[in-house]
Amino acid sequence: MMDRAALRLILLGVFLISATSDPVKKKKNVDIYSFYINSTVTSRYATTVITSRVANTLNESQEIQFEVKIPKNAFISKFRMTIEGKTYDGVVKEKEAAQQQYNQAVSRGQSAGLVKSVGRTLEDFKTSVTVSAFSKVTFELTYEELLKRRLGKYGLLINAQPMQPVADFKIDVHIQEKPGISFLEVKGDLSTGDLANAIKTTRADKDAWVTFYPTRDQQTKCKSCGENGLNGDLLITYDVERQNPKGEIMVSKGYFVHYFAPSDVPRISKNVVFIIDRSGSMSGRKIKQTRLALLRILSDLDEDDHFGLITFDSEVSLWKRELLKATEANLENANSFVRKIRDRGYTDINAAVLAGVDMINRHPREGTASILILLTDGDPTTGETNKEKIMSNVKEAIGTKFPLYCLGFGYDVNFDFLTKMSLENSGVARRIYEDSDADLQLQGFYEEVAVPLLTDIQFKYPGGTNLTKTSFSLYFNGSEIVVSGQITDNSVESFTTEVIALSKGNNVMYQDTIMTKDPSDVPPENEDFMQRLWAYLTVKQLLERQVLLNGQEKEDEKKEAIKLSLKYQFVTPLTSMVVTKPQEGDVEVADKPKEEEEPPRLPAPGFIQQHHSVGAPADHPGVQYSLLSDTAAFESSPFTVRLLVAEGMYDNVAMFSVQIFLIVIIIIII
Ligand SMILES: *[C@@H]1O[C@H](CO)[C@@H](O)[C@H](O)[C@H]1NC(C)=O
Ligand SMILES: *[C@@H]1O[C@H](CO)[C@@H](O)[C@H](O)[C@H]1NC(C)=O
Ligand SMILES: *[C@@H]1O[C@H](CO)[C@@H](O)[C@H](O)[C@H]1NC(C)=O
Repeated sequence: MMDRAALRLILLGVFLISATSDPVKKKKNVDIYSFYINSTVTSRYATTVITSRVANTLNESQEIQFEVKIPKNAFISKFRMTIEGKTYDGVVKEKEAAQQQYNQAVSRGQSAGLVKSVGRTLEDFKTSVTVSAFSKVTFELTYEELLKRRLGKYGLLINAQPMQPVADFKIDVHIQEKPGISFLEVKGDLSTGDLANAIKTTRADKDAWVTFYPTRDQQTKCKSCGENGLNGDLLITYDVERQNPKGEIMVSKGYFVHYFAPSDVPRISKNVVFIIDRSGSMSGRKIKQTRLALLRILSDLDEDDHFGLITFDSEVSLWKRELLKATEANLENANSFVRKIRDRGYTDINAAVLAGVDMINRHPREGTASILILLTDGDPTTGETNKEKIMSNVKEAIGTKFPLYCLGFGYDVNFDFLTKMSLENSGVARRIYEDSDADLQLQGFYEEVAVPLLTDIQFKYPGGTNLTKTSFSLYFNGSEIVVSGQITDNSVESFTTEVIALSKGNNVMYQDTIMTKDPSDVPPENEDFMQRLWAYLTVKQLLERQVLLNGQEKEDEKKEAIKLSLKYQFVTPLTSMVVTKPQEGDVEVADKPKEEEEPPRLPAPGFIQQHHSVGAPADHPGVQYSLLSDTAAFESSPFTVRLLVAEGMYDNVAMFSVQIFLIVIIIIII
């Protein structure tokens, strides 16, 4: 039996440890008494307003924080704080001007926290303001985005993480689609468990409303929720009716938008070559996931598709010299090639891509669509390593005949290089995030390009001007092409659209004329959406083209992008929002973060943070744990969930009761 005195000593020790480890931080006497997220989607253009009302319940002034996550694809267009009846609006300025104002504030010794951070699908917006004793503050943030159609649906992602249960919590979504809504689904971790009861969906012909009003109690009881209330996403997916294969055209107040997504066209068989990096850096999970994804992709090929496989490090290996038909025998043979892919050596991107181009060029097939897909996780390190030279070699070899898609695996890749190389060859670059679902990301990308329906698509609008992009190399089933512009002569009564494309090598044409005097179904409060949609799309495309241009043209387009961003108050990579705070005249600057910024993964003495990947919010939630330093993680890690200890959420009362509890236990035992 244990000696009584020793037991006493141990227990006393436990008590002392518990007493001294008290994180003395006071409880934040902050009451978020209302939190609203209000999203209005008019013809795929989503405007979301987050309103958070917070009371300082302390008898002295304190800093109150507002932090929300918004989709990467969106532009912030408004931020406003209201304190004691006064409003303070963020103002969008050209980046340099904003930076100057910010630097001045810093040099005057005023705090000026930058608001930025980047993640897989969301960005972090964070600010704070000093609020006097027993006063209230209202934060209001607005952001806008054009929902992209992928694999047959649009997705509106809403993240909610108010950091405490909120008495009055509401998410309201109103979707208005003129052609009618064909299906609607609410997913995401906020739609699971008890919280599912808080969701209401109402459908009419052209409208859908989704409301999510969880009670305070429900807010602590979802899978990813806890004492700090809600924490997760709502993902609303939907699609629209498509009666008219010529597309949907809307005209309003001098602007038009044309949504083009025909599905009554036969599939075009494709020639696809996969160029797979097997350099040393791909070792471990990455190469395993790549093999897995390739095996699934191969099994998805149609029998009249032709395919090729190239793996490369410092050497380039071809599965077969020629493209082969996706017959059962060939696929079986390819599968065993894929299973044997091992990592080794350096990265010769130049030789590998040129080999892929050559393979397609030697295999011309009338009426098919050729696609080159490069997967790499690093910089070119052997052979031709000059990136400019590689780009010009590839561009010359491809000669605009087919697109090159680049998939950048992880954060060691030079994503600018891949983006530029794909854009130069009418493709796109996509990042594959190193995570447990990387194989699904790869497969998902392939599925988006799996069914080409049209090639060489040209849009013409005789009555339009200041058009967004009008020429596209491929149109895939499940996607959508959106073109917007201004109307040259506002007094004309009709507006004509014309689309010319190739379907299996045959010319096809879609021509349509609509009456512009038709009363629009757009409700008056959203009348400006089309103009804003046009501005949004124009700025996005101008920004994208920046990597392709040089000299005067680049400067001119940059100026145009800045001009529009300022006019519509979009926070873009070229502009910043300056938020001037009330009391101290403090200045904060909100920037659009750059895509290639890596979230910090510094192991540092700190506390445990939970990384919640939301890349595929509903289907594949993956959770990782890692040690992160306090500030670094808060500043820039996008998917952090603060655990209890992090922000001193222990209040003195709770700590006190823990101690009393321990004393009682000690007394009972002794
Ligand atoms: C949401 O926004 C729309 C459009 O601005 C507005 O009409 C509606 O009243 C708002 N709903 C809530 C609950 O604030
Ligand atoms: C706030 O209240 C506490 C006790 O409730 C008191 O000790 C403190 O002096 C008060 N502070 C101010 C600024 O009034
Ligand atoms: C395109 O996708 C739709 C479903 O989104 C499907 O019904 C149709 O058959 C597909 N077309 C082709 C040619 O695969």
